[in-house]
Amino acid sequence: MFYFGVDYYPEHWPEERWPEDARLMAEAGFNVVRLAEFAWSKLEPRQGEYDFAWLDRAIALLHERGIRVILGTPTASPPPWLMAGHPDIFRVGEDGRRVTFGNRREYCPNHPVYHEYTRHIVTRMAAHYADHPAVIGWQIDNELGDRCYCPLCARAFQDWLRRRYGSLDVLNQRWGTTFWSHVYTDWEQIPLPLATGGSPNPGLALDFFRFSSDSTVAYQQLQVDILRQRCPRHVITHNFMGFRYDRINYFDLARPLDVVAWDNYPRTQWAMQAGVDPSQMALAADTMRGLKGRNFWVMEQQAGSGGWEIVSVPPRPGELRLWAYQAIAHGADAILFFRWRTARWGTEQYWHGLLDHDGHPGRRYQEIKGMGAEIRRVGEHIAGAVVKAAVAIILSYDSRFAFQVQANNPEFNYPEHLQQIYRAFHCRHVPLDIVAPDAGLSNYRLVVAPALHIVSEAIAENLKRFVQAGGVLVVTPRSGVKDESNTVVNERLPGLLARLCGVQVEEYDSLPPGASRPLAFAVPELTAVGSPRARVWCDILSPAGAEVVARYGSDYYAGKAAITRHRFGKGWAVYVGTVGDAPLYEALAGWLLGLAGVSPCLGAPREVEVTERWQGQQRLLFLLNHSEQEQTVALDGHYTDMLSGARAPTGSLALAPRDIRVLMSIP
Ligand code: GAL
Repeated sequence: MFYFGVDYYPEHWPEERWPEDARLMAEAGFNVVRLAEFAWSKLEPRQGEYDFAWLDRAIALLHERGIRVILGTPTASPPPWLMAGHPDIFRVGEDGRRVTFGNRREYCPNHPVYHEYTRHIVTRMAAHYADHPAVIGWQIDNELGDRCYCPLCARAFQDWLRRRYGSLDVLNQRWGTTFWSHVYTDWEQIPLPLATGGSPNPGLALDFFRFSSDSTVAYQQLQVDILRQRCPRHVITHNFMGFRYDRINYFDLARPLDVVAWDNYPRTQWAMQAGVDPSQMALAADTMRGLKGRNFWVMEQQAGSGGWEIVSVPPRPGELRLWAYQAIAHGADAILFFRWRTARWGTEQYWHGLLDHDGHPGRRYQEIKGMGAEIRRVGEHIAGAVVKAAVAIILSYDSRFAFQVQANNPEFNYPEHLQQIYRAFHCRHVPLDIVAPDAGLSNYRLVVAPALHIVSEAIAENLKRFVQAGGVLVVTPRSGVKDESNTVVNERLPGLLARLCGVQVEEYDSLPPGASRPLAFAVPELTAVGSPRARVWCDILSPAGAEVVARYGSDYYAGKAAITRHRFGKGWAVYVGTVGDAPLYEALAGWLLGLAGVSPCLGAPREVEVTERWQGQQRLLFLLNHSEQEQTVALDGHYTDMLSGARAPTGSLALAPRDIRVLMSIP
């Protein structure tokens, strides 16, 4: 079933309005609504006093219209009566200061009293709605995250370390605490990496980030356990924050859930950008699909201008539909717009819903209502259809956390590095998966491991197996530098990957801001468009079995290898020793796809995003024109235009600005 719907806050509006809302939702083709994820003070107005009657009435109205319900557990936003009585539940920031009441997500995930309150409200809700015919599932909390540095977390961290290392001798040795005389003789001496402590031991800091992530995962599990037991028929999910969120190991958070849900806001007031980069949304969507290696839901899809204090550039006509279809093109089986009607009060007064403050169904509503009619026709064909990718990019949260401790170069940014590489493949219309470092890789022909900083023996073996069997692996700088304790390896870089890559890093140059070095390609198949340059970081390479693919063109290492490739087993290990610019990755992407024998979904202009999903043997081709101009796409076969039901033209197809097509191949 394809879910199409909206996030709704009936508690913000007079009850007389609810029937009208339900009517307009049904007319828009909505079949699902998310409710109640911030309604704790309405559901439990005073401790132990529950009121579900209002929510029952709202659900009944939706149910009458055939609309299903996903309920949010309301724990992201505890009520004042709870927090006022237990001020030590408030999270402590990295600066050592406790947050105060006024926002949301302000609790410590390890607090036993908060766990108790959580158990009560979640159990009550689960018991009340387990058999409700309209309720299909649960969203746990809302956008879990943030690290807590409170004294309780300090003790929990010490226990976590005790379980991880077993003895202080092992911990001291792994972290290298002889440095600056940090040898611990009691677990209770181990501090949190507070900002007041200055630059922490990298081993301690990485472990604390892992511990924080585990704490949130465990807090989620507390709720998962209650819901699984009480509501065995319901789907359990959580709304993730895409690729950009970096405080939780999202692979871990996704594991106990049935489906990953994602909040997709292409244009917000924080960036205040006029345009959007489609490859950013695409990477976020592919990451969400990658967390469980299966299709995902969009729990919050942008419905209007974002805005708290500032109002973002509003979505232009066609953009809401385009962005929603883009998520579908990458594997979404549900789209819910955030939010139904723009709030008249509260911090998010200017975060625009499908309806404006006055409840009038205007341009944005009409656009999505039009999409609703399309989804009624095609939703069932799309739901469950899978994305098949031959190329994967490895996302390592350990490495991401390690770079949060030590960026290595002020201009090095791990997520941006991934994004740059992703963009070069994405604009060539090649489907990509985002995978964890220990994922099975045998389905891929090309795997990129950007800045895989932390490499364990098991990860190195995983990569070797892949190349041995014929895969093409790409490794980029600062890979293989650290072991799992964030200690620098005791061998030539790239450490455990050196033999696989047939190369050694003789030395490296960390470039000053803005500096770059020319690069010259040394293999005939690699032709540059523009002049690729090395930036940020230059590994000066000494091949040990590898062949040189590119050399530096200036500085004392002019003529030295910058990029190499090495035959290993039946495959290739390519080492790219620098953080390049767009022309470098564009050239490399073309060459690597050739080396791995991967072809794009379709040849098309860059402005048109092309993806495919497979319903069994049936190929669904998505064409999305992200530009302001009409674009022409040459089709490669016979297709049905699924939205119109008509046969697509053979040959060229014209796509209006911001328009999309969903085509189904005719065998
Ligand atoms: C999301 C969040 C929503 C709402 C929205 C707009 O990140 O889950 O509750 O706050 O942003 O700010």
